[in-house]
Amino acid sequence: MSISKVVSSKVTSQKSIEERLQIKRLVEATRIVTSTAGSDIVKGLTQIPKSLPAYYFYDDQGSDLFEQICELPEYYLTRTETAILQQYAGEIAQITGACELVELGSGSSTKTRILLDAYQELGYLQRYLPIDVSAGMLENSARQLLGDYPSLQVYALAGTYEMALAQLPPTQSPSRMVGFIGSSLGNLNPQECDNFFSQITNALQVGEYFLLGIDLQKPKEILEPAYNDRQGVTAAFNINMLEHLNRRFEGDFNTTQFEHWSFYHETAHQIEMHLRSLRSQTVQLKSLNLTVNFATGETILTEISRKFDLKTIQQQLKTRGLVPIQTWTDSNQWFGLLLCQLQA
Ligand code: TRP
Repeated sequence: MSISKVVSSKVTSQKSIEERLQIKRLVEATRIVTSTAGSDIVKGLTQIPKSLPAYYFYDDQGSDLFEQICELPEYYLTRTETAILQQYAGEIAQITGACELVELGSGSSTKTRILLDAYQELGYLQRYLPIDVSAGMLENSARQLLGDYPSLQVYALAGTYEMALAQLPPTQSPSRMVGFIGSSLGNLNPQECDNFFSQITNALQVGEYFLLGIDLQKPKEILEPAYNDRQGVTAAFNINMLEHLNRRFEGDFNTTQFEHWSFYHETAHQIEMHLRSLRSQTVQLKSLNLTVNFATGETILTEISRKFDLKTIQQQLKTRGLVPIQTWTDSNQWFGLLLCQLQA
């Protein structure tokens, strides 16, 4: 009986990271894999007022900058949501039971670990399906998770929420929960929000779960600094969208000739993020065959961040069949975490 046999049986008793990792690429590093890549940019930059789709924030560099935003003293959202998750993750795992976790916009998956820990503790940890447009970030954080959770399987989908939700693999667990935390729902306008809820209900079976984290309405003295920090990280994040477009679509945006501009629109209950042209200028995006003129002071809307009222959003979810079965907040009522269940 050879020693090598003993060693090899030991090694195979625990599956390697490669065996537990699957990555499905719906986007490539440099372009979305469809013929319509960039058509949303053409649309946004040729209408008035100009706008750009927010998911272009998140190339690898943008994802890094966003991680930095989450640690800013002014950006209370991440800290507050993390505290709520820490307090209630066990309860969430208990309610859902053994469950596959699908996460939209997973980023570095830091907050996800709180949930994975809770599921692991109850012996409910199974498969994690992170979805993110940043393939680099996705793979790095997946590998780290697989190193830290030896029984976890990861099936990562690199793409937009819409693409990924429509292409989820069959469930391997008794149940599934789609997590959408970080108040990213606020980045969708009401129409997009409606479409998004349809994509969620289509992706879930009756009885399955949707975990939603949302930022709540509060005075603008607290809100505005969160989107215009003193160190200028948010400004760099906003400007990076132009750098991203330059890299990806052979553009020539001069990023020193645009500035970050954000404010809270109190009646619409939303932060608006813009890039403002500092002079009249012409920009080309060669691979899109696009030439765009900017007047001095003209703006591009890059993001809205809506702030919610708990009662209203609970009602809206309910009418979509996503029935809120439990809602948690922090002591200031700054942030809300809602566990919903799809009902017929
Ligand atoms: N989901 C985050 C939010 O609405 C996104 C975000 C935070 C963001 N800071 C930003 C988007 C700055 C653009 C610019 O809070």
